[in-house]
This record gives sequence, C-alpha cells and structure tokens, in this order.
Amino acid sequence: MKEKVLIEKAKKARLRAYAPYSKSKVGAALLAKSGKVYTGANVENASLGLTVCAERSALLKAVTNGEKNLVKIAVVADKDEPVTPCGACRQVLSEFVSDLRIICVNLEGKIKRYNLKKLLPDAFEKFNKDPSTDAAD
Ligand code: THU
Repeated sequence: MKEKVLIEKAKKARLRAYAPYSKSKVGAALLAKSGKVYTGANVENASLGLTVCAERSALLKAVTNGEKNLVKIAVVADKDEPVTPCGACRQVLSEFVSDLRIICVNLEGKIKRYNLKKLLPDAFEKFNKDPSTDAAD
C-alpha cells in the first residue's frame, strides 16, 4: 500500500478522536501484512491517565482482529513537528513487531520516518518465548 493512502486513512481516523481535554486529535493507520488497515484515534478520559493514544487504539483493533504481523503505521497530528509515538505506545507496538516502520505526519504534510528499533533501542522483551504469544500465531 502506498504511504500516501495510509496517511490519508490516519487523517480520516483522526477526526474520530475524543480529545476534549487536550484538544489535540491524533489519528493512526496501521497496515498489516494481510493488506488490511486498522485505524485508531486517541480516546481521552476525565482521569487523564486512562487516555488511550491513537497508536494503541489502532494496534488493539489489529490484534483483536487476529493480526499481529504488522508492516507500518502512519500517525497524524496537528503540530508544528510531526508527533512521534509516546514511550508507552513504543513499548506496546514492540510487543509484536520490533522493527515496525513509523511514518509521522503533521497536517501541513511534513513527514518524518522512523523505525521502531530507532525510537525504542534495547527494548524490554518478554522473558519466555511462549509459542502461544508469538507474533506468528
Ligand atoms: N497522543 C496520541 O494519541 N499519540 C501520540 O503519539 C502522542 C499523544 C494523544 C494522547 C492525548 O490524548 C493527546 O495526544 C495529548 O497528549
């Protein structure tokens, strides 16, 4: 899938964000190896701490639809510089694909491309190689 298409899907998903507290809407579109795209947006909560970021929202959709083999994610936000995934999202994404490609874009079209390995070097990995939790499952 073309990067441009994935970005457009993330932009569209962003409009569904629930961000009454920060007023900062973020959208994400995650491409799985199957070719399917799972979108997400940030969903804030009055407790603030229970807010779910756009990236995790997209990832949870993918995994709960049986997709753990992931290729790349586009993240769109309205900020001078493209927003990169927060630390928690980096860790959660790395559970499934340690070298996920990450495309960060702002509404002006400024793009920054990363690999998760660069954003989360020496990530914590699970202790036991339990086959039931393998990405290939
Ligand atoms: N946020 C995301 O959804 N993704 C990021 O990569 C960074 C931050 C959200 C969380 C919160 O709802 C708002 O942006 C402001 O921090």
